[in-house]
Amino acid sequence: EKGGWSSFMAKEISEQPEAVANTLRTRIVDGAVVLPDLGDLAAHLGEVDRIIIIACGTASYAGMLGKYAIEKWARIPVEVQLSHEFRYSDPIITPTTLVVSISQSGETMDTLMAVKYAIEAGAKTLSICNTQGATIARESDAVIYTHAGPEVAVASTKAFVAQIAALYLFGLYLAQVRETLMPAEVRGALKELSAIPAKLEKVLKTSTRIRDLAKWMSDSRAVLFLGRHVGYPVALEGALKLKELAYIHAEGFAAGELKHGPIALIEPGQPVFVVVPSPRDPNSLHAKVVSNIQEIRARGARILAVAEQGDAAVLPFADEVIPIPLAGALFEPLLAVVPLQIFAMELATAKGLDVDQPRNLAKSVTVE
Ligand code: BG6
Repeated sequence: EKGGWSSFMAKEISEQPEAVANTLRTRIVDGAVVLPDLGDLAAHLGEVDRIIIIACGTASYAGMLGKYAIEKWARIPVEVQLSHEFRYSDPIITPTTLVVSISQSGETMDTLMAVKYAIEAGAKTLSICNTQGATIARESDAVIYTHAGPEVAVASTKAFVAQIAALYLFGLYLAQVRETLMPAEVRGALKELSAIPAKLEKVLKTSTRIRDLAKWMSDSRAVLFLGRHVGYPVALEGALKLKELAYIHAEGFAAGELKHGPIALIEPGQPVFVVVPSPRDPNSLHAKVVSNIQEIRARGARILAVAEQGDAAVLPFADEVIPIPLAGALFEPLLAVVPLQIFAMELATAKGLDVDQPRNLAKSVTVE
């Protein structure tokens, strides 16, 4: 079943272009989003005044990206909560609250219990799920299926990019319904989204270089990941992957937080991955992140930058630059996460570990 691949994870990483393409397929018609999947829920979306996204692990990082997109496009306040924290926080839920759960398996008990709590409390519920007919999908008012295909490796990869694609479709759908974007803006964003599969193919071609890098770094004791805005969830995901697969202590930080504490961790030789925003970023975060790189570089950090191809400002300060194709700000995470997935997989492989079945983990955790 692995085909010619060394692991399911390697196979699933390579399937990410299709995972996104299949999730978008049939849902973009004439430059607009169509989601018949929403059924009766569609009629209520005009009145939703608050969205709470619930998920665990990698799916929660997809949720963070969903928040940026939905808030920007549809101007509805969104909060992201870990499923297992949600119902213990006495959440504020009204009939105009929409609770969106994200789960690859659709069986994660923490998330299922959170969905049940939300239903009890009178919220509308939508799930983003990769497994047809899963319990969470059945419990929810509506489901948008990701079409990533079966994911076997415990650590999620192709389901993650498909979740982001589904959340972005939903964000643009809300923007259409609520008329917070002009049709031309929706069309432009959908064009960006549709271009992601081909760009992912390009990113996958950098994998040999990352394998070499991972081999050199296989004795690392700790690795830090920095990102900002949409690069922040990418940094968190890069760190989670490295923990899960290679059993290396890894932490993701918002780059702006560096000076408020984490910079104390920097000592000579400390590897730091930095997810660099595009120099074209409308928020001008690029210069701020480059200056973070300079600060940690001056303290001896070894910088591994994931940056837009042709970003000349990063070159003088980075030990390694992994280029990603140009994409609009919200779309960069779909590309930037891939080198980090490959890095974790290759480093674990270099250590002789089983990347499909990391110790102590299960694909779907059906206990609370
Ligand atoms: C964890 C898995 O146990 O559950 C992660 O190791 C996954 O890879 C998380 O992201 C959530 O799982 P699901 O199926 O709800 O997306």
